[in-house]
Amino acid sequence: MMNESLRQIVRAMPKAELHIHIEGSLEPELIFALAQRNGVKLSYPTVEALRAAYAFTDLQSFLDIYYAGASVLLHEQDFYDMTMAYLQRAAADQVRHAEIFFDPQTHTERGVPFATVINGIHRACQEGPISASLIMCFLRHLPEESALATLEQALPHRDKIIGVGLDSSEVGHPPEKFARVFAQCRALGLHVVAHAGEEGPPAYIASALDVLQVERIDHGVRILEDAALTARVAQAGIALTVCPLSNVKLCVFPEMGAHNLVQLLDAGLAATINSDDPAYFGGYMNANFEAAFDALPLGLAHAQRLARNSFQAAFLPPAAKQAFLAEVDTYFAQI
Ligand code: HPA
Ligand code: ZN
Repeated sequence: MMNESLRQIVRAMPKAELHIHIEGSLEPELIFALAQRNGVKLSYPTVEALRAAYAFTDLQSFLDIYYAGASVLLHEQDFYDMTMAYLQRAAADQVRHAEIFFDPQTHTERGVPFATVINGIHRACQEGPISASLIMCFLRHLPEESALATLEQALPHRDKIIGVGLDSSEVGHPPEKFARVFAQCRALGLHVVAHAGEEGPPAYIASALDVLQVERIDHGVRILEDAALTARVAQAGIALTVCPLSNVKLCVFPEMGAHNLVQLLDAGLAATINSDDPAYFGGYMNANFEAAFDALPLGLAHAQRLARNSFQAAFLPPAAKQAFLAEVDTYFAQI
């Protein structure tokens, strides 16, 4: 259990969030409000009944409910409202900068135009209280052709995204499946990241690096099963965007006390703390920091390192990055 003074320090420190799926920030109350606004029928009668269904056994059991929740999003204003709610909530947790994932295929497959999705999310990012940029994720359970078509749809909006990622059902959908579309994205100058080593084996982390040439690994907690890969990723300074509450809710670890975050840091890996799908997993950034610091032997030096890692790993222009890092160091110097 961390002491109160460390809790306050962690809560108030400046931080960046690098792993947040905007559709995973859709709170049950907003799902019901949007369902009513849009005349969408939900299979749960009440907010409480929906929340009660958030008892997951693995990634797929979560994804089924997550995609159902996203079905209430139809109009540009819906995407704006969802994104603005997240940005305001993140600001309250002293998140200074967020790199936000969105899943266009979840919406275009339902007939919602790509422009509706991106314009709503992007306008909120421009008007919101914190620095924010967008990473477009491809759904790995769909064929590569669908990802290639999605990239085509994104081209007129190239200036609204900073990079691409890869999410959804990991096992059985290795990074190699998306080699061509990621090569096209890199040629466009987009940053590239991928979920790997959440439920999938360390070999998926290696192929995300070697085949997709990713700059960060999302999750990556299974990396410690491969000592050579661990040493390589640590040496290269490639960050892992770790999501503690997500990992426990999806049974990647049986309880927070069994999470390997400290071992990741001890191995020299540039781990960060993130919320993943905060409306589904029990909390936003500070809830993730508090749950990890409560259950694990993490102290003041870890807090500063995690805050620094979050800005160091961000896709920010050098001057902005240095300014945020200086803000972190000033904050810790006055403690
Ligand atoms: N893993 C894979 N896909 C996802 C996740 C995740 O944690 N969250 C939303 N889509
Ligand atoms: Zn994720």
